[in-house]
Amino acid sequence: MKFLSTVTAVTSALAIICADSASAKFGFGIPWGADNRWAKNIPDGVISWYHHWQMGRVAEMPKDVEYVPTFWGPQKWLDWEFRKAEISKFNSSHILAFNEPDVASQANLDPEAAAHLWMKELQPYALKGKNVSSPQMVYNMDWLEKFMDACSDCKISFMALHWYGSYKDMDLFKAWVQNVHKKFKLPVWVTEFGITSASNPSQEQVNDFASQAIQWLEEQDYVERAAWNGGYDVSNPPDDYATPLNALFSKGGRFRSLANVWLPQLSIKLAQKNHQRRGDSLHMVKRARIEQSA
Ligand SMILES: *[C@@H]1O[C@H](CO)[C@@H](O)[C@H](O)[C@H]1NC(C)=O
Ligand SMILES: *[C@@H]1O[C@H](CO)[C@@H](O)[C@H](O)[C@H]1NC(C)=O
Repeated sequence: MKFLSTVTAVTSALAIICADSASAKFGFGIPWGADNRWAKNIPDGVISWYHHWQMGRVAEMPKDVEYVPTFWGPQKWLDWEFRKAEISKFNSSHILAFNEPDVASQANLDPEAAAHLWMKELQPYALKGKNVSSPQMVYNMDWLEKFMDACSDCKISFMALHWYGSYKDMDLFKAWVQNVHKKFKLPVWVTEFGITSASNPSQEQVNDFASQAIQWLEEQDYVERAAWNGGYDVSNPPDDYATPLNALFSKGGRFRSLANVWLPQLSIKLAQKNHQRRGDSLHMVKRARIEQSA
């Protein structure tokens, strides 16, 4: 038993050392849809940003996590008025545009109307030096091309995309992200993605997809940030189009297995937190390691 606990301590110490040197380049995020109180369960250093669709900041988020406001679309104009007030108050540096204008039940705009609105509502922020996204498309390249033509004077800093498909569709996911980058030569954020209910996946298949997706996204220099659409409780999904197995939280706000897959720093940071709570110091963990190697 003594040996086993030493091994655990050594593993944790190594994990802590690795965490400190982990790449800060890629921004892991969450589209927030869960009980705000659960945001307190997220240790520092696990996500760098979140968005909340048309809604506002989550006060319970760790301090260093950036909130990115969204202009959802003209159907939610009052929300946009509130977001604009927040953008001034907190001097937000990034703004997301239109939630799925290519879907009838979402922002549902034609490309020309969207370009006009972008110019009117978002260009003033872009001219002030804020980084503003393209419309957050979910599938329609034809729509996006028309929009980019109609919006050629718009100062768009990055392309924001959603994606949904079967757990078997990794190639389609990659092609969507790659094609948008190739066409428009801008950095990409994947602001929402996951597996559909229709593909009837197991949890393992969802986790495998997420794991492969992270690895691939991190390897693409032009992908700056991504957010798996799982910021909710598995028993309370936002709709039935995407499988509830995408959820990062269980009922009551505990992290599910998928959270450890999507957020590679999570288990490390939770272990650090537990060490601190138990009064162990990194020094003691390191000493255990030295004793082990002696
Ligand atoms: C906008 O993005 C560019 C390129 O990534 C970056 O250099 C700049 O600091 C960003 N601006 C803000 C306000 O974050
Ligand atoms: C607000 O952010 C911009 C970059 O987005 C920066 O240039 C400016 O100095 C900031 N203003 C204040 C008051 O912090």
